[in-house]
Amino acid sequence: MTMQNDLLLRVLSGEKTERPPVWVMRQAGRILPEYRAVRSRLSGFKELVETPELACEVTLQPVDLLGVDAAILFSDILVVPEAMGLPYELIEKVGPRFPETIGSAADLARLHPVEPEEHLRYVMDAMRMTRQALDGRVPLIGFAGAPWTIFCYMVEGGGSKEWSRARRMLRSEPVLAEELLDRITEATIAYLNAQVKAGAQVLQLFDSWAGALDSTLFERYSLPRLRRICEAVDGAPLIVFAKGAGWQLERLAALPCAALGIDWHTPIAEARRRAPGHVLQGNLDPSVLYGSEAEVREATQRMLSDFGRGGHVANLGHGVYPDIDPDRVRAFIDEVKRSGVEG
Ligand code: CP3
Repeated sequence: MTMQNDLLLRVLSGEKTERPPVWVMRQAGRILPEYRAVRSRLSGFKELVETPELACEVTLQPVDLLGVDAAILFSDILVVPEAMGLPYELIEKVGPRFPETIGSAADLARLHPVEPEEHLRYVMDAMRMTRQALDGRVPLIGFAGAPWTIFCYMVEGGGSKEWSRARRMLRSEPVLAEELLDRITEATIAYLNAQVKAGAQVLQLFDSWAGALDSTLFERYSLPRLRRICEAVDGAPLIVFAKGAGWQLERLAALPCAALGIDWHTPIAEARRRAPGHVLQGNLDPSVLYGSEAEVREATQRMLSDFGRGGHVANLGHGVYPDIDPDRVRAFIDEVKRSGVEG
């Protein structure tokens, strides 16, 4: 089957394209009334994630309704710790919660390796179904959380501003911490490779809480596992997004991955200078989308010209906020698309 829109695949393989491909982190979600309509009929978020027909339906919504150049499978990074033996809940207006956490070697001993087709069958089924339903319209992106980010939730038990408990474990129980991180790493490798087999054409690794680590901790605990994943996953180009770690860009640039995600704190010219020759993804501040349509278009133009021609996947610098008007997201996407028409 030939891809009708293979812009993302071409940019990630290093080709020059007529314009940057554009997609939006968290594009499948609450910004769309059509998503909220599906969601409101269900018992909760997990029912949506665990029902392949529904996950497929909401994955396609932003392709149809926003016109993005890629679909990202509707799922969550928290399915991996659950598959290892630590179930999560998603509490309305609060966020994720783990009733049990990892704090000792005994807790760690209760975790088990992940067999994706067994423990994450619903994701694999959703991936197969979505790839087929897309019928080559746009590439399908699979994803996972990076080991450090998953570790944060497993140790902390929920969201946190500072992740001080997770960081305490790195400082006070480094052996236990390394063991947990390695187990997450192996589960993630199995999971990402299985996603490729099931139809994912691009992968993204989210190190959403990389910014909680100082350089010593980042280099010891996060970076080597990002590298291990880059080396052990094959069959699809991998985008590494380490949010809040723009100051680590030289080290990230040494990873064998297809592209690096850039958050909105990182000045584009600086990113280009510090990761020369790399494909970069990002990085409009999502809060720009609270502005007027004209402001959105102007900021998007500035972003495009700062990245320059080639080697760029247009996106926001983090996930879109749920209360943003979908018309502003459309203006962002349209502005990127127009940049190709105007040559
Ligand atoms: O469109 C897409 O991006 C695909 C779907 C997707 C979700 N979560 C759906 C979701 C993706 C890629 C994720 C990744 C994810 N999940 C990350 C990494 C990306 C990032 O934002 O840094 C993280 C840290 C999580 C953990 C998580 N899941 C949190 C903190 C929350 C609650 C916060 C919130 O936004 O409410 C979730 C739940 C979640 N995952 C929702 C969605 C659409 C909201 C749940 C709902 O519909 O009620």
